[in-house]
Amino acid sequence: MKVLVFGSLNIDHVYQVPHFLRPGETMDSTAYSRNAGGKGLNQAIALARAGQDTAFAGAIGPDGLFLRDTLMEAGVDTRHVQVLAAATGHAIIQVEATGGNAILLFGGTNRMITREMAQSVLSTFAAGDCVLLQNEISCGKEILQSAKEKGLRVALNPSPASPDLHAWPLELADWLILNEVEGEDLTGASQPQAMLDELNRRFPHTAIVLTLGENGAFYRDGHQQLHQPAIPVKAVDTTAAGDTFTGYFLASVLAGKDPAFALRIAAHAAAVAVTRPGAGASIPTATEVAQKIL
Ligand code: RIB
Repeated sequence: MKVLVFGSLNIDHVYQVPHFLRPGETMDSTAYSRNAGGKGLNQAIALARAGQDTAFAGAIGPDGLFLRDTLMEAGVDTRHVQVLAAATGHAIIQVEATGGNAILLFGGTNRMITREMAQSVLSTFAAGDCVLLQNEISCGKEILQSAKEKGLRVALNPSPASPDLHAWPLELADWLILNEVEGEDLTGASQPQAMLDELNRRFPHTAIVLTLGENGAFYRDGHQQLHQPAIPVKAVDTTAAGDTFTGYFLASVLAGKDPAFALRIAAHAAAVAVTRPGAGASIPTATEVAQKIL
């Protein structure tokens, strides 16, 4: 059983700032780094580091070849990463002293995924395999639909929130893994319990994972609701914490673990990630996470 991450690859330009820029303000940053990122790339690395057999499909330009190398070094199968004659997607990330971030995206080649590319990639996967999607590439809706038609399981992280997500057939997802902002956008509710109730009412056959940062995470399906507290740590950079959580949670449930264990291991993995700078590079290995749980 393989997991295909059909997702984004970004060049992350990360600026350490005293506070997030205000409208009209010009400000000096105190540090800069250029890193491998993108929700797709980060989640694929998390899956692979958690021990899951992982493949990646997406697109980069000639300026983004190091992103493919990063995935390969993490043990991800990159045969479906296409190199197009255009600029790779990138992110401008402000990180403030608390570790919080603000992210501006430019889609670049992430937004050049076509239906034909999607069909060609999906034709090489079989019923029982799993696809993990986010909302940073073009044709996400079509990939979700086609994957289900082929009998694949689908985990969807509807991030970042956007108006077009409301037209996606979200009820087809086997797992919906989202944060409070995305939960509010999809349901109109502002309280976590109301979001869970509404998501469960609308998608009764979908397991919901709602992540709440320092307030931990909820799991909800037709039979149970669980809560996992966050693991207290001193955060230096929260970028990719949600991606780490998503990858570790999915790898764990696909390995047959129960949702309570999967939440716990995902919370520990995300806690390690926030103590390190960067996105993909901050994601711990399964051995590092196991040491935290013992
Ligand atoms: O979730 C973090 C990621 O969001 C960053 O790596 C950035 O590239 C954006 O996709």
